[in-house]
This record gives sequence, C-alpha cells and structure tokens, in this order.
Amino acid sequence: MSEWGKNMKAIIPAAGVGTRLRPHTYSMPKILLNVAGKPMISYIIDELIEVKGLDTIIIIVGHLGDKVQQYITKKYAKAKHIKFEFVEQKEMLGLGHAVYMAKDYLNEEPVVIVLGDTIFEFNLADFLASKHSAIGVKEVEDARRFGVVESRDGFITRMVEKPASPEVSPSRNAIAGLYYIKNASPLMGAIEYIMEHDVRTKNEFQLTDALERMIKTGEKMVEYEIQNWFDCGKPETLLSTNKYLLDKNSSRKKFKVSDSTLVIPPVFIGENCKITNSIIGPHTTVGDGVRIEDSILKNSIVGDSSTIENSILKDSIIGSEVNVTGNFKRLYIGDSTDITF
Ligand code: UTP
Repeated sequence: MSEWGKNMKAIIPAAGVGTRLRPHTYSMPKILLNVAGKPMISYIIDELIEVKGLDTIIIIVGHLGDKVQQYITKKYAKAKHIKFEFVEQKEMLGLGHAVYMAKDYLNEEPVVIVLGDTIFEFNLADFLASKHSAIGVKEVEDARRFGVVESRDGFITRMVEKPASPEVSPSRNAIAGLYYIKNASPLMGAIEYIMEHDVRTKNEFQLTDALERMIKTGEKMVEYEIQNWFDCGKPETLLSTNKYLLDKNSSRKKFKVSDSTLVIPPVFIGENCKITNSIIGPHTTVGDGVRIEDSILKNSIVGDSSTIENSILKDSIIGSEVNVTGNFKRLYIGDSTDITF
C-alpha cells in the first residue's frame, strides 16, 4: 500500500501513430520495436511491476492497439499482482487528453505517468518516494523542442510547453516524460479544465498545460533530476539508443551462432536464429527466428523472422518478416585504381 493508503497506478500513453518511424510503424506499433533485445515499452514495465504498492498499469492505446495489448498480455501473463488495462484514445488530441482516458480507473491515489516511447535511466523507487508530486527533468542545450519547468525555493512555479525563445522561459530544465502525481483527482480536474476552456498548445491538449494549471491552483510540485532519457521516436535516435543500451547491458553475453560466424560485441541475438558465414556487430540487435547468411551487419536492428543474405548493412533498421538479398560483385580491375561502391 502506498502512503495514501490506496494503491498506486501507472499510466503509459502509447496511442501515437509514430509518423517519424515510418515505414516500420505502418505494421508495428512504435513501442514494440526492439531496442537492444526487448521492445522499448518493456524497459519501463519491467521496472513498474517490481514497485511495491503499484497494482494497475493503464496503457493508452490507439494506432495498432491490438498488437500492443496482445504483446503485453502474453509477456506479462505471470505478473498476476498487476492488472493491465488497455484504454483506447480514439483521436490523437495530445498527451493531456491521452492521460485523461484513464479517468475511469482513477480516484484519489498516486499515479505515475511514463511516456511509452522513451527509455529512462533513473532510480524509480527514489522518484516514487518523493514527498510531493514530482516531474522528471534533465538539462538540455536547446529547450525549444521540450516543455520546461521553472522553480523557486525548491518548488515548481511555472511550466511552459515548447518555449519559442529564452525570453518566453529562460529555463533549460526539460520535462523528460516522467511524472509522479500524488493524487490523481486534481490532475483529472486540471485536464478537464483545459479541455473545457479549449486551452491548446500546438493545437493539442498538453499535459504540461494541465500541470501548470495544478501549480496555479496550489499543488506543490518538485523537479526530479533524472540521469538520462532516450527518445526512440526517430531512426537515428532508435539506433543511438540501441547502441547505448547494448554497450551498457549485454556486452558480456554469449550468443549461439555457427562456427563460420564472427560476433563483435556488444550485440543482442534473439532465439531460434540461424546465422552462418557472417559478421554480426558491433551494436547490432537481431530479433527471434532470423536467418542471416554471408552477410555483415553493424550498428543495425533486425526485426523477428527476417532473412538477410549476401548483404553488407550498416546503420540500418530492418522490420520483421523481411527478406533482404544482396549480391556479391565480380571485379576485374587493373593497377592504380581507386573504387568505392
Ligand atoms: P509523440 O508525439 O512523440 O509520439 O508522443 P507519436 O505521435 O507516436 O510520434 P510521431 O510524432 O507521429 O512520430 C509521445 C508519446 O505520447 C503518446 C505517444 O504514443 C508516445 O508514446 N501520445 C501522444 C499519446 O498516447 N496520445 C497523444 O495524443 C499524443
């Protein structure tokens, strides 16, 4: 039980379309893409299910929501102490609106909100031990793409979504997508308020604007500095996060490959793969049931059940059930020649 005497809930907004990761997100929800050995959403769920006093994880689904539900229900079937609820957000009206979809499951209990497409490095237990509602922040060079917080005497005084310039807000403490709210009821009230008064930023009902409303109406909130956060929403950030996590987690792990294959760690190789005459790594994630033959793969991600033959791939993201077949070149070249192909 939490200190409020009611069990804590978690909300993971994961309804988005993932436009920036097309074509992968046409058939696979962004949060299920494999990063260094597991779907990005599993990083936070694996931690949340260990939290004492947390009994429900509410996933806000939309685009390809059935696949999200299928994966989570199967993967966490053994985590019987946690109830997973899947709530559909029919229209992408913004993060505030997404969180509001969880209203029927909430009363006055503490709630932790974590973006589904971000991987965080922080101490969850310490974060949830905060005496006041807390917003995960990290200092950034250029705050214009983020929401920022301003504080005085240890408490947040103002939150601004995507400040156009330092004149709008001088703060560089960006909101990382991690929130701990001591009592869900005023949060729902604040979101209701911004929706009823049509308070939109960039045409969306922003969670930042609802939190700003809570501060203005007296809620005490503090900043919580996190170590790191990794956005996985674009091809280049997906690959750099994959690289970072492989370096951090799995460099010592041994994987079963044929004698004719060289593995350059760190890599992750899934189950039931057949890899022959190839070089895999460094910084490569290979899903389950993949066949790779006569190929070289570095700094890449390959989805489940794909086949790659005669190919040299670098900085690539290959989906699931894909066939990639290259070919060997035949060269017949004289002396003093310089060729790149
Ligand atoms: P993003 O805007 O980064 O994700 O939202 P997106 O919309 O899926 O990606 P792009 O911009 O089209 O490439 C951050 C997180 O908030 C969720 C998204 O699913 C993502 O996990 N979200 C955002 C919602 O659930 N509903 C919304 O209305 C907005």
